[in-house]
Amino acid sequence: MPELDVKELVELVARQVLERLGHPSAQPGAPGGDTRNPLIAANWKMNASKDELPAYVAELAATGPGVDVLVLPPSVLLPGVRAELARAGRPDIAVGAQDLHWEAQGAHTGELSGSLLREVGARWTLVGHSERRAAGETDDQVRRKLHAGLDAGLAVMLCVGELAQERRTGATFRVLRSQLLAALGDTALQPPDPPRLAVAYEPVWAIGTGLVATLEQIQEAAAFVRRVIAELYDWNRARRIRVLYGGSVNASNAAEVMSAPDVNGLLVGGASLSGRSFREIVEAAPPGPHSEVGR
Ligand code: PGA
Repeated sequence: MPELDVKELVELVARQVLERLGHPSAQPGAPGGDTRNPLIAANWKMNASKDELPAYVAELAATGPGVDVLVLPPSVLLPGVRAELARAGRPDIAVGAQDLHWEAQGAHTGELSGSLLREVGARWTLVGHSERRAAGETDDQVRRKLHAGLDAGLAVMLCVGELAQERRTGATFRVLRSQLLAALGDTALQPPDPPRLAVAYEPVWAIGTGLVATLEQIQEAAAFVRRVIAELYDWNRARRIRVLYGGSVNASNAAEVMSAPDVNGLLVGGASLSGRSFREIVEAAPPGPHSEVGR
């Protein structure tokens, strides 16, 4: 057996023993949080302003334990959101970027690197959002961005999803598989720590349209995403990597979407712009097993 496997095995057994004992170090302080909690993310896109932050954060500060909350504001607002969360006594609520450049530095006017984003407080970054893919981002760029994020110490949320036409023609699973393999294929030999990777299944036809996918479509796609991850890595990792759903989630449908067994969180656009509605969505998620630990 190669040396790496033995080391991984020892770590896995140690973690499982610690988990059984309820030891807090069972999940080392990875930037992505505790994978047994649902992850509820607010993608503000190119919305919001500095003046709105105190009221928004006041709503979020009222949410309870057991749910990992992530706010993805426009990058220039990252320091402001972080500062407001600290003032509200909720530094546990993570902030992240909506995109990053694949290079660590250089002549890339207008772009931001993973390390710059980390400097202003980002713990996560999205990669491959359909709005960026629609603006010309290629599978290969998504792959490079995913690596750049991980290399900079960020947790990465990879977005995948089919177009309406692809669903109509029965290509959904082929598209999901090809997006997943393109982005993650070369991490198969050295998979990221599960808390540092999440995959958001976002059918493009459901984004911003009010057309939420059916529970059956969501569960089927989320289970498929997990199976592809298991083929790439292994089932132990695939079970711990969170699969999210995104596309017209709101406070009225969040609980139902979260009832899909393979859905571990939500990526919310439009309905995350109001602090109140995003708080209601966070509260609709069933808290994870760490809820008793408190914050
Ligand atoms: P939506 O956006 O919730 O407004 O559909 C989701 C997303 O784009 O991540």
